[in-house]
Parts: sequence; structure tokens; C-alpha cells
Amino acid sequence: MDTLNVQGGYPLKGELKIQGSKNTVLPVMAAAVLYKGVTMLTNVPMIRDVYCMIHILEAIGVKIVFSDHCLTMDASLVESGEIPMEDVKRMRSSIMLLGALLGRVGEAVTSYPGGCSIGLRPIDLHLKALEQMGAEITEDGIKIRAVASRLRGTHIRLDFPSVGATENILLAAVAAEGVTVIDNAAREPEIIELCLFLQKMGVPVRGAGTGRIRIEGKRQLRQTSYRITGDRIVAGTYLAAAAATGGEVRLTGIYTPYMASVLQAFRKCGCDVTWGKEDVSLRSDRQIQAVPWLKTSPYPGFPTDMQSPFMALLAYGDGVSIIEETIFEGRLKLAAQLEKMGADIQVKETRARVTGQSRLRGTLVQAEDLRAGAALAVAAVGAEGMTRIADPGYIKRGYESIDQDLRSLGGKIWW
Ligand code: EPZ
Repeated sequence: MDTLNVQGGYPLKGELKIQGSKNTVLPVMAAAVLYKGVTMLTNVPMIRDVYCMIHILEAIGVKIVFSDHCLTMDASLVESGEIPMEDVKRMRSSIMLLGALLGRVGEAVTSYPGGCSIGLRPIDLHLKALEQMGAEITEDGIKIRAVASRLRGTHIRLDFPSVGATENILLAAVAAEGVTVIDNAAREPEIIELCLFLQKMGVPVRGAGTGRIRIEGKRQLRQTSYRITGDRIVAGTYLAAAAATGGEVRLTGIYTPYMASVLQAFRKCGCDVTWGKEDVSLRSDRQIQAVPWLKTSPYPGFPTDMQSPFMALLAYGDGVSIIEETIFEGRLKLAAQLEKMGADIQVKETRARVTGQSRLRGTLVQAEDLRAGAALAVAAVGAEGMTRIADPGYIKRGYESIDQDLRSLGGKIWW
């Protein structure tokens, strides 16, 4: 059985540069499909989801060279709008290609991305918005076909600030005639970065990071090179691991204004956290304070992707913490795996009541999604004894080298 193996009890100490952001590079790769030429991306993480997106893009005609974190894409000849079904099943975020393919070839065919273990994850907001822009959507229960002879800019108000739906609208709007205004748009850093990339490509877009984004379509696009920002969730995960071991680390290569709510949460746990613009330092004496109430919400609130690593950290807390998950209904199931290690976590609907323990003990546990898998590594580095994490492939979807990274900080962790 393929497992990630962790011998706990070694404080993490030292300095580490953080990889590029998974949730930034995926929509930027989709955006590059809109330009009939070469786009170059640097600081691209070498993770499974990027390789999956490369497979999809090559299937539709994009020529790609990817080496040493540099991705060169030639989208001069995009012939097809059909996203391979097996890739959609492997990576639901391939749905963000809908808008780009509609804009580039006037058609997009995909299968239902389906839910995953963190929740149902419907795409109704994506489809409704694209229809408002002139796409005709047909569904046969297996495939979704979107066709648009011409996309037109319009005023769209999202019922929920969905990150993926905002991305799809932005990419369709690049090719739409006229102006598109998105109200109740997602404000996440990944939206800001995508809009910075679009601006660099020649697209007039304003309001990124606010609830209202305005974008003008049908502009002449230009060859662009772009550096992918550091991954705020990977950085937060490693800070949680350092705190769980009573360590002292300095992480570089991340834009810390994107991490404000997470860094404040570490301070609430009693960690000594300081930061500059592109680096953060955390020191912990392993006396993790309970957090009375930690609620996930859309940016700039506490991010749902950090909820799992924090649940693992608060399992060591001195007291009772309440975690409320408001974004993905399936995320709290991590508790059952942590309980195998001796954690005391009561889950009821969208809340988890975590009663901290001074020590957890290593055992065999199961990764059931990307962030839950990474959270088990956080719990494991602070635990007594050996933890073996089964199904670690989930972790490889978003963490380029969690083993090497944590080993470089003194952790005892190997595949
Ligand atoms: C993106 O997912 C991220 N994925 C997620 O990261 C992240 O957790 C999420 O945004 C929230 O920040 C990528 O960027 C690839 P949403 P996305 O649309 O776009 C509901 C990770 O671990 N919804 O903002 O799917 C949905 O069910 C991943 O890196 C609808 O109801 O998130 C959920 O409850 C996990 N209808 C909520 O909105 C829709 O049409 C947030 O989803 C779309 C979404």
C-alpha cells in the first residue's frame, strides 16, 4: 500500500521557499487558451493537478513544454472544445475551461465534474452565467455541451461569490462583445491574480478583489509571461505543522497580504507570528491555545482550504475549539481520521467541537481529500510514534514535495 510515513516528535526548524499556487495557475492556464500564440508561466508547481490540466490542454491542441517550474504554452492552434471525460473526473476544476473554450472555439463539451469528498460542488452558477452571456447549454445527463456563436457582455449577479464561476465568467467575458459586470464576484487572491494576468495580456479589467468586477471583451491580446504567486494554503499548512511540533520556521516566496486571516488565526492559537511582504516567521512553544470559534467564509474570511490543517492543529489545543465550516459540507469528515490518532472531535452538522489533547499517537490513517491528507501530515508530525497516511495521492495533487519540504525543516517524513 502506498503511504506517506511520518515519525512524529521532531520540531520543524529552518527556512523554506513555498511553491507556486495551485489555485492560481489552473485558471491562468485556462486563460492562456484565449490567446492565439505563446504564453510563458514561471514558478509553476510541479503537482498532479497541473499535469492533469496539461493533459487536457494538449488534447485540445495546445503545445506545451513544462520543465523546472516553467510552463510554455503555444495555443496558436486550438482545434477542439471537448474536455476528455477521464480528466474531468480526475480534476473537477477542469470545469473552468468552459468559459475559455467558449471564447476561443465557440464550443465546450464536458462531463459533469461530479462532487468529490468535500461536497456536492454543483456548477449551476457557472452554467446560468454563461447562458446569460449567450451560450446555449444542453445536457444529456452524461455530457454538457455549451455553444455560443457569439458571446455578449452583460451584467451578472452571482447568488454566491463562487470562485470557479467568477473565473469562468471572466474568461468568457474576454471574448464577449462589450462590457461584462460581475456583481457579488469572488474576491479571493486567485481572482486578483487571474485579473492581473488578463490585464497583462491586454484585457481591461477593473475591480479585482472587490465584489464588482468590470471587464471589456474583444480586445487585442498579446504574448504574455507571468510569475505564479506563492501558494497561500501550502504556506498555511506548513505553518500549522511547525506549530504542532513546537518549531520555529521562516517561509518565503508568498505574498502575505493574501494570508491575513490565516496569520491572525495562528496568533489566536498563541503562536508568535511576524511577517514581511513576502515572508512569514512562526515560532511555537507547542502550547496551542484553543480558539473559541473558527468559522470559514469567502475571502477575506478564514479560507475553507485551511480549515482541515487547523482542525489538526487544534486537536493539540489547550481547551475546546469550535470550528464551523460554511463552504463545503463534506470537509469535517477529517475528524474521524484524527480520532483514530486519539483526537476528541465531535461533529454535528456544520460544526466540529475539538477538545484538545496534549499528545496524539501515530497510527494508520486515510487521506480522503487533498487538504484532509495534508492535515493528517500536520497531526502526524506532532504525534508520538509513526503515522502512515494511506491514499497519499490526494496530497500530491496540490503539494509538490511535502516530504522533501518538511524533511528540509527537520521532519522525519518519507514516501
Ligand atoms: C475553488 O473551488 C478552489 N479550487 C477550492 O480549493 C476552494 O476551496 C474554493 O474555491 C473556495 O475558495 C480551485 O481553485 C481549483 P466555489 P470552487 O465555486 O471554485 C457552491 C483546494 O483544496 N457552488 O467558490 O469549486 C459550492 O458547492 C480546493 O485547493 C454552487 O452552489 O469553489 C460551494 O459550496 C478545494 N454552485 C461554494 O459554492 C456553483 O455553480 C464554493 O464553491 C458553484 C459553487
